[in-house]
Amino acid sequence: MVIDHVERREFAEGLAVEAGQLAMSYRQQDDLEVRSKGVLDWVTEADLATERLIRTRINKFFPDDHVLGEEGTDQRAQIEAGHSTWIVDPIDGTTCFVSGLPSWCVSIACVDGQGHPFLGVVHDPTGAETFSALQGHGFTVNGHQTSVPSKGITDGLVGVGHPRNAPDAPTLTFLQRLFAVGGLFYNSGSAALGLAYVAAGRLVGFYESDLRAWDALAGEVLVRESGGWSTSFMRDGSLITSKPMLAANRGSAAALWDLAWDALEGCLSPEQVSGQ
Ligand code: IPD
Ligand code: CA
Ligand code: CA
Repeated sequence: MVIDHVERREFAEGLAVEAGQLAMSYRQQDDLEVRSKGVLDWVTEADLATERLIRTRINKFFPDDHVLGEEGTDQRAQIEAGHSTWIVDPIDGTTCFVSGLPSWCVSIACVDGQGHPFLGVVHDPTGAETFSALQGHGFTVNGHQTSVPSKGITDGLVGVGHPRNAPDAPTLTFLQRLFAVGGLFYNSGSAALGLAYVAAGRLVGFYESDLRAWDALAGEVLVRESGGWSTSFMRDGSLITSKPMLAANRGSAAALWDLAWDALEGCLSPEQVSGQ
């Protein structure tokens, strides 16, 4: 069965909104069950139920597609020629979600049978915003087509996430270099939302030293389709390995690359990408 990717995009936008409503309904409960996976690392009933909903819908509407979710028990690499794979983070920003902070989101991406990401949808239930992109079809915010303005790194804030359970040094080095050039950082507590903000022109760039596919892939497609530049998560061909990510609008990309290039082994620089 040939399924148009435009159909997948419409489906993913609707699903992300539905999933966000479900997560939000849990947030309003006083007795939300929260389990610790480590220091400042929680999983809630809301994460599990939201991922279950997303999986169920995808299995029903796209039975030939694969699904890889953060909270799934089956986390094998699932790229297979002729099949699309959905990459799902039911709640990106669970620490914010649990703490009563507004910045968390549902993140849904899709990669093709060659492992190329072509679809990204990030939905922010608190702000009622859906950021969506399909390769070759551009980037939208709540259905409005938009592209990222070109701004320098001191014309706005740089999103910087810090992964728990990963060394501090790469983040500290990046921050030190950013401060040295007069820049400032912002941490939304959700990598996917941070990347959506780059695509929407609200942050001039985003860096995090260690991300998983479900944190990074949707945002990567958003940034690319908005006209910005991003490192490629699939640069090593793996959905499973974690790795650093840098993304920016075109006016900040080269300057941000200079702050992080030594942490970005195997990535193409903004210059190499524009020269292709
Ligand atoms: C986390 C968030 C956070 C980032 C972490 C991620 P989670 O995802 O995106 O901003 O700094 O690296 O693990 O655990 O809230 O889904
Ligand atoms: Ca995440
Ligand atoms: Ca999550």
